[in-house]
Amino acid sequence: MKTIIEPFKIKSVEPIKFTTLGEREDALRRGSYNLFLVPAEEVLIDLLTDSGTAAMSADQWAGMMRGDESYAGARSFYRFERAVRDLTGFKHVIPTHQGRAAEKILFSLLGGKGKIVPNNTHFDTTRANVEFSGAEAVDFPTAEGTDPDTVAPFKGNMDVHELEGFIENVGAEAIPLCMVTITNNSGGGQPVSMRNLRETREVCRKHGIPLFLDACRFAENAFFIKQREPGYAHRPIRDIVQEMFSYADGATMSAKKDAIVNMGGFLALNDDALAQNARNLLIVTEGFPTYGGLAGRDLEAIAQGLEEVLDEHYLQYRIRSVEYLGEQLTAAGVPILQPPGGHAIYLNAKKFLPRIPPAQYPGQALVVDLFRRGGIRSVEIGSVMFGKYGTDGSLIPARMELVRLAIPRRVYTQSHIDYVIEVVIECFEHREELKGYRIIEEPPVLRHFTARFEPM
Ligand code: F0G
Repeated sequence: MKTIIEPFKIKSVEPIKFTTLGEREDALRRGSYNLFLVPAEEVLIDLLTDSGTAAMSADQWAGMMRGDESYAGARSFYRFERAVRDLTGFKHVIPTHQGRAAEKILFSLLGGKGKIVPNNTHFDTTRANVEFSGAEAVDFPTAEGTDPDTVAPFKGNMDVHELEGFIENVGAEAIPLCMVTITNNSGGGQPVSMRNLRETREVCRKHGIPLFLDACRFAENAFFIKQREPGYAHRPIRDIVQEMFSYADGATMSAKKDAIVNMGGFLALNDDALAQNARNLLIVTEGFPTYGGLAGRDLEAIAQGLEEVLDEHYLQYRIRSVEYLGEQLTAAGVPILQPPGGHAIYLNAKKFLPRIPPAQYPGQALVVDLFRRGGIRSVEIGSVMFGKYGTDGSLIPARMELVRLAIPRRVYTQSHIDYVIEVVIECFEHREELKGYRIIEEPPVLRHFTARFEPM
């Protein structure tokens, strides 16, 4: 087999800044050991997120110029609406400035006290929006999905059996909608199978519960289905995507992922009354329904990105480059969540740093060391992000202690990835030297963004 190459050439470049060890240590101190508080300029390779960090194509930039900035009924809106409808089949397409704005509208309308929202695994903003409405967010990952070492094709799946038992237990009236996150980001960027979507759909239909997809990474999910699920190897990606959405009644989407843009999102759904209410709320919070918090040029770039993301050369390169990173780290003995996800590799900090207990945040220790040694910015997905406090003030740790290396779309080349591999391996070789962290300041919600740390 020949090397899978980047399916693009580079027309415009952005220099990255090299720093010394001393400068990085200083940046860490100034940022209170929270990489969200370190200026991006001081980061060499930024793997904080794959969200809004993509490189747009020449056609997307051309679309930015073509963008129609009319307040109402802009041509760019109709192009955007056509693109979303073609993929999802949903009747109503409501643009929002990003994914969480769609979540905010959806859960403001369907959430509230006494309501419960099941998901394979809620992303943090999704959970926050459910909980902010007064409702409860419950996750139903499968057993294999929560074991970081199991290699299985669809570890993002919903535990349909558990879901059904839960619905029967609490009663369908308490459940205004059920969500499936594709791919399952908090569960390791793992895909959900078509079969699992169909089965989840069946359970929801039986109980009269609408099913929504959190569709940020729908194209990556579709590519995994094509690669791994019997019967899909010869189906075009567009077909697979359309089938995935056909099982749902609606979707929230952060266009900052698989629409390959820097800002944008949407809420799409079939229910007329719900759509009407959503548009009313949109006008109050985001903007008129044909722009919803976005410029016409953004809508144009999203429409174009939704085409480009279906290209199988792109998806093959995308999935393969993440897999390559995972393979090289695994070969060096570095513990990662297996198998590699679609948009990211998740280092298993619990195994990487077994001597640092969860209450001393091993993931954060690793995040800091990756930056200190190599200028790489990553994100902790463990007890900093998901930890809670018990009544006695002690930490209730997260299920897993992970560090995510998220790969921006079309931004870094293979030599950047080779460098990342070297730095991670260097951290691994020096793992005995790492110490834990304590939190010295934190906000009441989504604390990982702004918490301040101190080395133990
Ligand atoms: N759902 C999932 C599965 C996500 O991964 C994200 C964002 C959102 C919803 C919210 O979208 O940021 O546009 O408001 N994930 C980013 C990440 C931030 O780094 O994984 P948003």
